[in-house]
This record gives sequence, C-alpha cells and structure tokens, in this order.
Amino acid sequence: MAAMEQRVVLVTGGSAGIGRATVQRLAAQGIRVATCARHGDRLDEAIGGLPGVTGVVADAADAADRARLVGRVLEEHGRLDGIVLNAGLGWAGLLEDMPGEVVEGMVALNLTGVIELTRLALPHLLASAREHGRADVVAVSSVAAWSQVPPLTVYSATKAGVHGFVKGLRREVTARGVRVHTVNPFFVETEWLARGHGHAPESDADAAGRLSRGMAPDRVGAQIARCLAARGSRTVAVPRWAGLARLAELPPVGRTMDRVLSGQADRVRRVAARAVARRTG
Ligand SMILES: NC(=O)c1ccc[n+]([C@@H]2O[C@H](COP(=O)([O-])OP(=O)(O)OC[C@H]3O[C@@H](n4cnc5c(N)ncnc54)[C@H](OP(=O)(O)O)[C@@H]3O)[C@@H](O)[C@H]2O)c1
Repeated sequence: MAAMEQRVVLVTGGSAGIGRATVQRLAAQGIRVATCARHGDRLDEAIGGLPGVTGVVADAADAADRARLVGRVLEEHGRLDGIVLNAGLGWAGLLEDMPGEVVEGMVALNLTGVIELTRLALPHLLASAREHGRADVVAVSSVAAWSQVPPLTVYSATKAGVHGFVKGLRREVTARGVRVHTVNPFFVETEWLARGHGHAPESDADAAGRLSRGMAPDRVGAQIARCLAARGSRTVAVPRWAGLARLAELPPVGRTMDRVLSGQADRVRRVAARAVARRTG
C-alpha cells in the first residue's frame, strides 16, 4: 500500500472554507496536494508556505480547465492517488426567484463538474489502485443530499445527484481497489453563501464579515482525511447526528415536510433574502 507521504491528492476549491482546511490538514500529514480555484491571488494567499502543495488557477465547471488541471497534476507528480471533489456553490432562494444562469452554473459545478473530473481522473486512480493497493474519490456533498429543504432546493438537487453518482460509482470500482466516499456536512462557517451570490471575498480580511454560521471547516477536513485512510468506502455525516436528515426520505416525513414548508414559502423567501444581504452587503 502507498505510504501516506508518497500519495498525490487533488483537492478542488482549496483557497477557502472546507477545501482550504483539507489542504492544510493533508499537507501536514505529508501528502503531496494539488489544488485549484478560480481566483489566483486568494489561492496564493491560502497555500503560500504549505509544504508539498501546488495551486492551479482553474474553473472546475469548465471542461477545458478540468482537462488542463488533471494534466498539470500528472505532469508535476506523475501520478494521482486521490481526488477530493470539494468545489461547490450554493444559492439561497425559491426556484421561482432564481436566474436561469445560476441554476445552470450550479449544476455545471456541483454535479457535471464532479462527475466529469472523476471521469478524467479515473484511469489514473485505477492505475494507482493496481500499483499501490488503493485510490480514493471523496465527494464533499451535504446533508441536503438526504433532505431537500427550501431555500436550497436546487443546491439540494445537485447534492442528491452527487449521492446517486457516488453509489453508482462504488458499484463500478470497489472490487478494483478504488474507495468512493461521501462527506455530508451540516452548516459550516465558510464563505459559501456570499460566494454563491456573486460576492467571492478577495482576501481573508474581506471574508471575515461574510462567513455563514456553522462548525469550523476543519471538522469536515478531518473527516475527509479519515476517508483517505479508511479501509473501505465511507458515507459520513458531519456532525454524526446530522445523518438523521436521512429520515426525510421516509414517505410520511416527506409528506409532512411538503405541506409545512410549502405553506411557509413567503417566510422562507424573506429569511433567505436577509441571510444573503448580511453576507453580500
Ligand atoms: N458551508 C456549508 O455550510 C456547507 C455545508 C455542506 C456542504 N458544503 C459543501 O462544501 C463544499 C465547499 O464549500 P465551502 O463552504 O468550503 O465553500 P467556500 O467557502 O465558498 O469555498 C469554496 C472554494 O471553492 C472554490 N471554487 C468555487 N467555485 C469554483 C470553481 N468553479 N472552480 C474551482 N474552484 C471553485 C472557491 O474559490 P474561487 O471562488 O476562487 O473559485 C473556494 O476556494 C461545497 O461543495 C459545498 O456545497 C458546504
């Protein structure tokens, strides 16, 4: 099996939030990490001084950038042993209020980007599993994959898609040594809401007033790191109790949520608008 410190892991979206915490944690374990983000200055600020970490300015929603990204990792390191599909965007509001291009952008990154980057990485992950005994795909999903709640309906739909993708992929690659994990966090203290609404912070100082409420991103990073060392594929809710969101898949629970939440649509709209205004103002 590949020694931890020889492994090469690609983490998308490493300039902020969960991705940044993950890059720091993996680098501290001696893993060689490649990461990407769209904004180079912020990426440099995040990874500057971290040993064994390289950054590529790339948009994970763009097909040409995805191919270039995987090519760069192989060029620099000659191998790819793990991929953490972290980059993702959210948008809070009702479907009827969403611009069409926001819907398309979210699907392009959160779902198409995840599947396509995995497809490009897969031959190299399978080669790593053959040569070194294991390889890993870790999808950073959400509790929203299990419980679709407005104002995050479209976001939740993309994460439910990721959930289905992970389950299907496991059935393609498990016997060939590739573990496929999904880490599903509840709320995390990141720039997620601001960035999703078009206010990507330009620096750590700018980010300070734009963070959503939630747990520290490193709690999620710690679970991602555990996946990369786990014996088998993992499905992890962070925190553990958030796995109760799966109860929403029970038909009576789902029907009750349909009635109660749809009766509150105006209120949901107002609460979401206030939360967005606080992070983007
Ligand atoms: N925060 C939460 O409460 C929460 C809860 C559950 C799940 N999640 C999931 O966790 C993941 C990470 O979210 P986060 O909260 O850490 O978000 P974040 O603070 O907004 O960080 C997102 C990171 O991804 C990068 N990114 C965004 N779009 C990208 C693109 N098209 N191509 C490449 N990089 C891109 C961002 O940099 P650039 O803007 O420079 O590209 C940034 O580095 C997402 O998949 C999200 O859905 C978050």
